[in-house]
Amino acid sequence: MIGVPNHKPSILTVWSCCLPREKMATATSTCEVEAITMPEFDRKSELKAFYDSKTGVKGLVDVGVTKLPHIFVHAHKVKLPEKSVCGNSQFSIPTIDLEGIKKDAALLGEIVEKVRDASEKWGFFQVVNHGIPISVMDEMFDGVRRFHEQDTEVKKQFYTRNFTGRFVYNSNFDLFQTPAANWKDTTYCVMAPQPPDLAELPAVCRDIMMEYSKYVLKLGLTLLELLSKALGLDLDHLKDMNCAEGLFVTSHYYPACPEPELTFGTSSHADTGFITILLQDQQGGLQVLQENQWVDVPPLPGALVINIADLLQLITNDKFKSVNHRVLSNKIGPRISVASSLRTHFTEEITPKLYGPIKELVSQENPPVYRETTIKEYFTHYYKKGLDGTPALSHFKLCK
Ligand code: OGA
Ligand code: NI
Repeated sequence: MIGVPNHKPSILTVWSCCLPREKMATATSTCEVEAITMPEFDRKSELKAFYDSKTGVKGLVDVGVTKLPHIFVHAHKVKLPEKSVCGNSQFSIPTIDLEGIKKDAALLGEIVEKVRDASEKWGFFQVVNHGIPISVMDEMFDGVRRFHEQDTEVKKQFYTRNFTGRFVYNSNFDLFQTPAANWKDTTYCVMAPQPPDLAELPAVCRDIMMEYSKYVLKLGLTLLELLSKALGLDLDHLKDMNCAEGLFVTSHYYPACPEPELTFGTSSHADTGFITILLQDQQGGLQVLQENQWVDVPPLPGALVINIADLLQLITNDKFKSVNHRVLSNKIGPRISVASSLRTHFTEEITPKLYGPIKELVSQENPPVYRETTIKEYFTHYYKKGLDGTPALSHFKLCK
């Protein structure tokens, strides 16, 4: 249990009702009974106390929780613990070496084939020799750690549920919508098309965010070229559709979890945007859904994980797959990752552009699967829905 002076009474009152589950059956005090017989009431106060603390999951770990507060318990995990998943090496996402793509046409052809194959089958691949220096990647990890581990009062200034700001810190963007929260804290930042003023970013990570984002945008353009070629289109096709116009950088901090078997770091979801470029540390826990099995995406030193996101699946008319993935919680932590999404922020859409299946990719035999939509409409739907495990894309299908 927790026993911490100096913390807001609201959060302590609520978490002190959060008994270890084995004690529930013998609970006697009013507080304990309420926790059992009034789950809705209890849940709302827990959510509110958690939100109002502005200290996220790290704040809970700092005050010493040894049991998972109810709001983080994923009920289906309690009822039906999942088996551990396939780590079989022949069943793992491909790694593609980008060395030499700009110099050797034959090599470029081979790489394009690998990208096509991975994007059709897996929706995921790792890249090495991608042009982002290891020192920049390491400093990005350090920057994320510095942000989350800095003085709480400074960090709280960025805490909000409102996504209109440039730099947002919170825990579980869908906290009040989903049935169960995830064990992680996150920051979100719009890096392009309008780059931020340095003053808009937290002092502890602003320089590296600017530098890392420059590299990511460059790699993003290279990946769009490879993906365009892999679709049989001109090199610049996806770029000309403004797929690399926006860059939205999300950093995740997954603190050590006292009961990892009852929750997730990130529950199953597919990504928004066109593609995601993910930097993960060496801890592991990322899994991708393939043929109904969860497959580990093992950390590879120096590599980046690339995945196809929903808007690319939509414009490729299901040729490339935006696949569900998740992150397991761990007793050891923190785990740090940075997901950079090629997409404009929904508040930035100046001229609403319509995105639908690319006309070169549809035919009589292969008719459009999706209707056209705008980035704004897509995100409004995604954020309203939250990470509930259902596909956001099906909302845009022509035949449901
Ligand atoms: C995401 C995501 C995976 C990770 O941000 O969409 O899937 O490893 N992150 O944190
Ligand atoms: Ni994701």
